[in-house]
Amino acid sequence: MRSLAVLGSTGSIGTQTLSVLCRNPGQYNVQLLGANTNWRLMEEQIRAFRPRWAVLADERAAGQLQARVADLNVEVLAGERALAGLLASERFDIVVAGMVGHSGLLPVISAIKSGADIALANKEVLVMAGHLVTALCRQQGVTLLPLDSEHSAIFQCLQGHSSKDVKRLLLTASGGPFLGKSLDQLANVTPAQAVKHPNWKMGAKISVDSASLMNKGLEIIEASWLFGISPEKIDVLVHPQSIIHSMVEFNDGAVLAQLGIPSMELPIQYALSWPRRWPGPDSYFLDWLNLPSLSFSQPDTVTFPCLELAKAAIRQGGNSPAVLSTANDICVEYFLAGKLSFYGIPRVIERMLAVVPWQASPDLSSIIQTMESTIRETRNFIESME
Ligand SMILES: NC(=O)c1ccc[n+]([C@@H]2O[C@H](COP(=O)([O-])OP(=O)(O)OC[C@H]3O[C@@H](n4cnc5c(N)ncnc54)[C@H](OP(=O)(O)O)[C@@H]3O)[C@@H](O)[C@H]2O)c1
Repeated sequence: MRSLAVLGSTGSIGTQTLSVLCRNPGQYNVQLLGANTNWRLMEEQIRAFRPRWAVLADERAAGQLQARVADLNVEVLAGERALAGLLASERFDIVVAGMVGHSGLLPVISAIKSGADIALANKEVLVMAGHLVTALCRQQGVTLLPLDSEHSAIFQCLQGHSSKDVKRLLLTASGGPFLGKSLDQLANVTPAQAVKHPNWKMGAKISVDSASLMNKGLEIIEASWLFGISPEKIDVLVHPQSIIHSMVEFNDGAVLAQLGIPSMELPIQYALSWPRRWPGPDSYFLDWLNLPSLSFSQPDTVTFPCLELAKAAIRQGGNSPAVLSTANDICVEYFLAGKLSFYGIPRVIERMLAVVPWQASPDLSSIIQTMESTIRETRNFIESME
């Protein structure tokens, strides 16, 4: 059995990864579970999967977990450094990166340095440091397996094809809960409205990103690094039914699309079974005769300015995508806490792109410095707005 680590095991991606593993016993040995504070769910996961290590970033939560699992042969560690240290010193066959935002950067880099393949959901890592992550993967012979449904779709369509034959990538977007709304209608939306996604059940941060269309901006950057395609050749198509998960248009006019029900379990399972495919349960299959009509439209970048901000960050290059992504992490945190309006998110990010010093080709320490100064500046700016 291959060894596996799940970072963010208590979140939406983490729990769905463990469900896929439950349905496919004997494939992987879960050796490490990592999360932030949720020791109760982590205890259940430890009892079900019996990993060698469990790491919680929050020290108090780790203390509580330790007391609860004292009867088991599991080593409980505390803190973000402990996680990165363990990933650097132990070699797992595959690491599922399901942490959220900038918190995943150092653990993923440590895992790549140890030679583990990465099943990547935590797209912010590639947005922040795509040039470093992809270079390190090449150097270490590590495969990056996309978990994002759009990127998994493109990865599947590209099997057996060369990126050189691609005319463009078509990233589909559901449009989120506010599709069709105007600027005025969205001025006072609440966090509860923003996280109510019509097709997908996801963690709070990515749900807000989907509502603001920042998610699609991050995905353009992610796709560009994953597939070595320039961002100008990546277009977004709003497709509210979320049946086509993305498409590849080739130079000869042929288009390959990947279709399926909107469930993250499918791309997670594909990454874990790649290059093979494990059989799926009946619930994974499309009901062709009862499919809704599939529709496509352009994204509304006036009502959803985050998409254009992401494109601006790509054009600026250097550390700008790291500023964009980190500022967005903090803005979403404040929005979810009711301390920033929905349109405060793009306003603050635009400001951060202007004030955080630009660097042309940042190394890892410059990216970390950019991340830390963006966190500080973003917090200060939002607090000063009150
Ligand atoms: N959910 C989806 O359907 C989906 C689809 C595509 C891509 N993604 C991407 O996948 C990533 C995870 O999304 P999600 O929706 O699964 O998020 P989520 O439900 O909020 O889960 C986040 C996970 O990360 C853990 N975590 C948070 N901060 C941490 C830290 N500092 N150290 C260690 N662990 C930490 C959380 O632990 P606690 O539970 O203890 O807080 C939780 O296990 C995001 O980058 C998202 O964009 C998600």
